[in-house]
Amino acid sequence: MLYLVKKAIVILLAVVLVGLVFAACGSNAEAPKYDYLVLVNKQNKLPDDWESVVELEDAQNTLPEGIELNENNDYLPTDVFKVEKKALAAFRALQADLEKDGIIILLDSTYRPVSRQEELWKEFEEEYGLEYTQKYVAVPGFSEHHTALAIDVCIIKDGVIINDNDEMIAEKEIFPEIHKRLADYGFILRYPEGKEDVTGYGYEPWHFRYIDSPEIAKEIMDNGLTLEEYLAKAMN
Ligand code: DAL
Ligand code: ZN
Repeated sequence: MLYLVKKAIVILLAVVLVGLVFAACGSNAEAPKYDYLVLVNKQNKLPDDWESVVELEDAQNTLPEGIELNENNDYLPTDVFKVEKKALAAFRALQADLEKDGIIILLDSTYRPVSRQEELWKEFEEEYGLEYTQKYVAVPGFSEHHTALAIDVCIIKDGVIINDNDEMIAEKEIFPEIHKRLADYGFILRYPEGKEDVTGYGYEPWHFRYIDSPEIAKEIMDNGLTLEEYLAKAMN
């Protein structure tokens, strides 16, 4: 009997010890500070506490060695962009990968506070009218750019920067090649062609969304899904 009690105590102590070890490991593991799969779209606004938590880093464009812009082309986005920390590292890796094959992508728009989105909305509405604006610009507060996980790129082709929406949509060779590699770096194409009814926006070959998981990004990209469709599926 005494032997059984002793044995039970030893087993109990072992269980407690294992539990403590797991708890200690868990607290040391780096848990993500925010949800990289956060859904921000026409129905879902940016979570209220997001901007106080998200880790931003500054980033600027530089022309790769040996690349020169044509004389008449003086538009190089020179802003100090802000991008979520991990998204920026992943973007730099994607950029370097593409550069090896002569494809140059640059930052064109990244984190935008609500105030900048308001300006953008006005600029677009004045220049292109309401219908076009609703197709390509989110209502302030409802833009993925507020998360700092969205990156708009422009490309350089034959020494010319292509950053105009219609010209980028017409660029049918370079963008598909870029899109093929997005998932490897944890990005998805957020507004794919043919999914306008789901996303609520027109095709934006330039807007990449970081989700921090190459596996999920592959599932989304390989199956031609949107983030909305992936999340709806994952919940079932
Ligand atoms: N262009 C996307 C929809 C935005 O404004 O967030
Ligand atoms: Zn965008």
